[in-house]
Amino acid sequence: MYVLGIETSCDETGVAIYHSEKGLCSHLLYSQVEMHSEYGGVVPELASRDHIRKLVPLIKQCLQESHLTGSDINGIAYTAGPGLMGALLVGAATARSLAWAWQIPAIAIHHMEGHLLAPMLEENPPEFPFVALLISGGHTLLVQVEGIGRYQLLGESLDDAAGEAFDKTAKMLGLGYPGGPKLSALAEQGTAQIKFPRPMTDRPGLDFSFSGLKTFALNTVSTSGKTEQDKADVAAAFQIAVAETLSIKCKRALQQTGLKRLVVAGGVSANKQIRACLTDMVVKENAQLYFPRLQFCTDNGAMIAYAGCQRLIAGQQQGLEIYARPRWPIGELS
Ligand code: KG4
Ligand code: ZN
Repeated sequence: MYVLGIETSCDETGVAIYHSEKGLCSHLLYSQVEMHSEYGGVVPELASRDHIRKLVPLIKQCLQESHLTGSDINGIAYTAGPGLMGALLVGAATARSLAWAWQIPAIAIHHMEGHLLAPMLEENPPEFPFVALLISGGHTLLVQVEGIGRYQLLGESLDDAAGEAFDKTAKMLGLGYPGGPKLSALAEQGTAQIKFPRPMTDRPGLDFSFSGLKTFALNTVSTSGKTEQDKADVAAAFQIAVAETLSIKCKRALQQTGLKRLVVAGGVSANKQIRACLTDMVVKENAQLYFPRLQFCTDNGAMIAYAGCQRLIAGQQQGLEIYARPRWPIGELS
């Protein structure tokens, strides 16, 4: 079964074709980062308009690169949420219309389920069950995964998502958008002398809170100086605080569930220090760690095509409506 995957939930247009036996045939991504960077963040209306411009040409190119035509495609998967309403509608309407024209089923995919299953595209995919840490620009979730669609929420951020904390702190340090990778690069020039808090690790539970770290960074910059070296030191101290906090909570989740496999995905999982911290932790816990390749940590069409293929094989499909849901708790998935 060939499945076309479409991702347009935010500022990346992702398209991919996945085959149930042959695996990933082709994937393409167009990032809008340059367009939004002028404004210091994503401008939703510009994002929607750009998805409209890029989506159909990307689908055509993806078919061409896979040496396929529309009539070879057996199903279409599209990100239906969570995300920006206008951006989601572009992907949903295009997917639904193509499915109608080609007389094939379409399936609406939860964006975080896509991230969660992204490591399945790698050579040594994790077996079920596992604990998943999903760290993106909009979400920080710890999920117990029993199988496709069987997700139990263990913990989540009560305020800023990890990526949001990176982006806001980066903005405060005068770095541009998107802040995560820029803050991470600056952190490499600094030393983590200042001790930032490890929020919510001194009490039981698996929830997170990252907004205090951003405030702590702001106060530190305003009291201890603003040289380039000071900023690099703040970036380094901030980054290790996030990495250690995530690691403490993941260790707790593995111990609480008794599971020995940890999957880490979402844009922030591209961060080298977070990867290193989690790698150290799982070795001590005698557990295994699974990441998607770097280009599938951030938003992409391949993860949506994969998730859609699994659900279509299981006999699921969407009705004829154009389904888009900007807010969609992962706990409501089944
Ligand atoms: O998953 P993603 O591409 O989009 C969402 O679903 O939100 O994640 C984007 C987030 C942004 O907040 C970005 O700053 C962050 O991932 N990010 C990073 C790194 N690369 C991307 N954060 C820290 N270090 C990185 N290397
Ligand atoms: Zn994402």
